[in-house]
Amino acid sequence: MKIAILASEGAPYAKSGGLGDVMEALPAALARIEGNEVSLFLPYYQKIKENPAYEVEQVCYFQVALGWRQQYAGVMRLKNRFDGVQVYFIDSQYYFGGRGGAIYGHGDDSERYAFFSRACLDAMAAMEYYPDVLQCNDWQTALVPTMLNAQYRSIFPYTKCLFTIHNIEYQGWANRDFFDDTLGLPWDARSVLEMNNSVNMMKGAIVSAELVSTVSETYARELMYPYYAHGLDNILSQVSWKLTGITNGIDVNTFNPETDPALPAHYNADTFLEGKAACKAALQEEVGLPVRADVPLMVMVTRLAGHKGLDLLVYIARKLLWEEDCQLLILGTGEPQFEAFFRELANEFPDRVAAKITFDLGLASRIYAGGDIYLMPSKSEPCGLSQMNAMRYGTVPVVHATGGLKDTVPPVNEQGEGGLGFTFQSYNGDDFLGALKRALALYNQNPEAFRKLQYTDMIQDFSWDVPAGKYMDLFHRMLGW
Ligand code: GLC
Repeated sequence: MKIAILASEGAPYAKSGGLGDVMEALPAALARIEGNEVSLFLPYYQKIKENPAYEVEQVCYFQVALGWRQQYAGVMRLKNRFDGVQVYFIDSQYYFGGRGGAIYGHGDDSERYAFFSRACLDAMAAMEYYPDVLQCNDWQTALVPTMLNAQYRSIFPYTKCLFTIHNIEYQGWANRDFFDDTLGLPWDARSVLEMNNSVNMMKGAIVSAELVSTVSETYARELMYPYYAHGLDNILSQVSWKLTGITNGIDVNTFNPETDPALPAHYNADTFLEGKAACKAALQEEVGLPVRADVPLMVMVTRLAGHKGLDLLVYIARKLLWEEDCQLLILGTGEPQFEAFFRELANEFPDRVAAKITFDLGLASRIYAGGDIYLMPSKSEPCGLSQMNAMRYGTVPVVHATGGLKDTVPPVNEQGEGGLGFTFQSYNGDDFLGALKRALALYNQNPEAFRKLQYTDMIQDFSWDVPAGKYMDLFHRMLGW
């Protein structure tokens, strides 16, 4: 099967979050399945261009029509990737060059990704590459199914489109004029894209794509409700037969405590006692916390954004620190009020709290390895990957039972049995505190059971092989073969 995957980011070339991780591992997992030919289309951002590690050659170039304008696009083929995935970068100095190196957050993001979406289709046409399946991800490539149906059907009569929602909060809203000025689509595509008298790219994809998926089973069900769907619940409910949840995996080669080059000591499920102890001591030292083996170290690696559940942590942090002997370590950047809060908390409790307000992948790995308990109280979470990273490194998660957190962290009982971590059901600070206290009680009072839970977490299979098979099922369903 010929599978083309389109996304706005993909590790290791460009990554801002979980989408980038998925776009590293899913294409590779699909390429491992016999008979598949997999290509990945990404924008040629400045920092990819400047990285000498990526050898490229130009395959073709052309002008992309954006309404009444034309913009140059080049197609660069990556020459040195050897896992069976063919990577193509769409080159445009105007849209993806310079820009201070930031992937997103530019005033013309809607136009940049409208350009990217059209350029991908034009690139395939120019290369006479006719995929069976297009897999598009999030709002940045959400225009592709609508464009395909409206203007490219004579070139790609049999190509089917799967649209995957990683985060429904960002939908690609644009004002009405965008349709005429930039999209250059025929008149009848307007109603496909229109919502509240504006353009909504994600709505268009949900209507136009043959199938829609999201990144966990629970989130697929949650998306039927206004609380989660950010205005798209009605449209999703109308086509609920199209929607499937496939829970993400993690890249078990990158996230492997036996080989991770960022770690000061290596270990596996059988040797984790010593290995994790060494990682914990080194981590405490690195972040300036007292080096104590006996104290539970609670950790969090996160974007400091509201929906990650930080308001709950803000609400309970002092109570937790007064009542329990524990250490708390946070790594991440984001909303200023949270950055300020954690800095302040670290000043107030210098021996108990460390706040690293930065983006540091190496430190993130050392935190997964050196922590005892991993906090992830997200208000909503389409899938979430770091709870799986944490478990793979033997760090026990405490999570809000929502979305992918619910699917990947089945709850344990008070004895730490029957699941993989501690969960709370309703989104409030006291229930979160309750779950944390259960985790701390197990750590303090029943170390044997806590270790057994760590072991159970470490031996789970979070690899991409199972989800990749489920994507194949969807592809077959679309194609009818
Ligand atoms: C988004 C979601 C996250 C998910 C990731 C990869 O970042 O917020 O829950 O794990 O995409 O699908």
